[in-house]
Amino acid sequence: SSQKLWGGRFTGETDPLMHLYNASLPYDYKMYKADLEGTKVYTQGLEKLGLLTEVELSKIHDGLDAIKKEWDSDSFVRHPNDEDIHTANERRLGELIGTDISGKVHTGRSRNDQCVTDLRIYCRDIIQDKLLPSLKSLIQVLVKRGEGEIGILMPGYTHLQRAQPIRWSHWLSSYATYFTEDYKRLKQLLDRLNVSPLGAGALAGHPYGIDREFLANGLGFNGVIGNSLVAVSDRDFVVELLFWGTLFMNHISRFAEDLIIYSTAEFGFITLSDAYSTGSSLMPQKKNSDSLELLRGKSGRVFGNLSGLLMSLKGIPSTYNKDMQEDKEPLFDCLTTVEHSILIATGVVSTLNVHKEKMEKALTMDMLATDLADYLVRKGVPFRTTHHISGECVALAEKLNLSGIDKLTLAQFQEIDPRFEQDLFETFNFEQSVERRDAIGGTAKKAVLAQLQSLQSQL
Ligand code: ARG
Repeated sequence: SSQKLWGGRFTGETDPLMHLYNASLPYDYKMYKADLEGTKVYTQGLEKLGLLTEVELSKIHDGLDAIKKEWDSDSFVRHPNDEDIHTANERRLGELIGTDISGKVHTGRSRNDQCVTDLRIYCRDIIQDKLLPSLKSLIQVLVKRGEGEIGILMPGYTHLQRAQPIRWSHWLSSYATYFTEDYKRLKQLLDRLNVSPLGAGALAGHPYGIDREFLANGLGFNGVIGNSLVAVSDRDFVVELLFWGTLFMNHISRFAEDLIIYSTAEFGFITLSDAYSTGSSLMPQKKNSDSLELLRGKSGRVFGNLSGLLMSLKGIPSTYNKDMQEDKEPLFDCLTTVEHSILIATGVVSTLNVHKEKMEKALTMDMLATDLADYLVRKGVPFRTTHHISGECVALAEKLNLSGIDKLTLAQFQEIDPRFEQDLFETFNFEQSVERRDAIGGTAKKAVLAQLQSLQSQL
């Protein structure tokens, strides 16, 4: 066991299962790029302090570049004693440039500040390179469909009961709005997580007075974490990112649920493209919306990742404890699930077929009962009274077995309330109902287009 990086004070061997139980390389190898970058900048800091010569620094950097090539080309050979990405890279550096030099890179550094530096860099890169751009495309696809299909009306629901007519674009815009908030929230979180723990040592700070601001700048951080105990043990950024993923998946799940309902034969509002559907092994006629069900179902594991990590962190005493190694698997699983979900949702939205005639056929005249009440409001009757009157009209049409309130005669309307006049029949127009709601955020064409435009300007 003296072969281990920390083996000096040990005489006994590590139990083989303990080695596996303890090792994080099987998943933290993903941070290899961040780890190598971190060591590059850290050794520059050491050179500034006179703890490495220029020649040593350049050998170290060449070695780190060579190691990066090995990881990039999937040819890095793992050693059975490698514990995590940090020990693996340091071990390999020694093989390449000799341990006389590689043995100096960890001067004043601990895996405690190193691992969390790597993790912050890794999160930042995924957010910048993957999550923000893909989320932006998803929003843009929703906005583009919304603009192109502004003319399609559909029932809007509350309690999943037909409520009032809306535009299909208004529905699209509603999820584009959620996702835009997610986008902005992610950018804010990125600012908070992009701060540097490097140079905090194991917990107590740096004994050679390393320039932590130099390290932070070199690694693209916005600043330095101001307390070394916090620097090594703060995992709030992981929790925050997991919560972000949880909230996003909550939005995606509701979005998917709407589309699952809309794609049933009973609704028939949309059809998914074959690219995002699957068949049944038994029933030849089936076309199932598995993409949507997975968007809904995978939200569960992301919620679980958040609560799991919170459980792990609760009650850990100050500074680094090995419990914290448990931050990575839930986080990585969340990031992969969220990224794939964004891409699948984008594909689903950009390829689905929308059935205008089915949506518009589902509009029923009773959905204009509120508009009928508003008709009398415009004649000066208090809304609470007109609500009651309109309700009586609905009840009478139902009692007479008519196909809708618009089939009552003027005489029948006037028997309920004499203030009804011939022009009341103009109320029974879905397009006008939607157009009347032209205040900010409403269903009128102008209002919906303004929403869509405003979303784009927020990206
Ligand atoms: N693999 C570890 C982690 O991810 C690195 C830190 C180990 N530090 C230590 N003192 N054992 O948390």
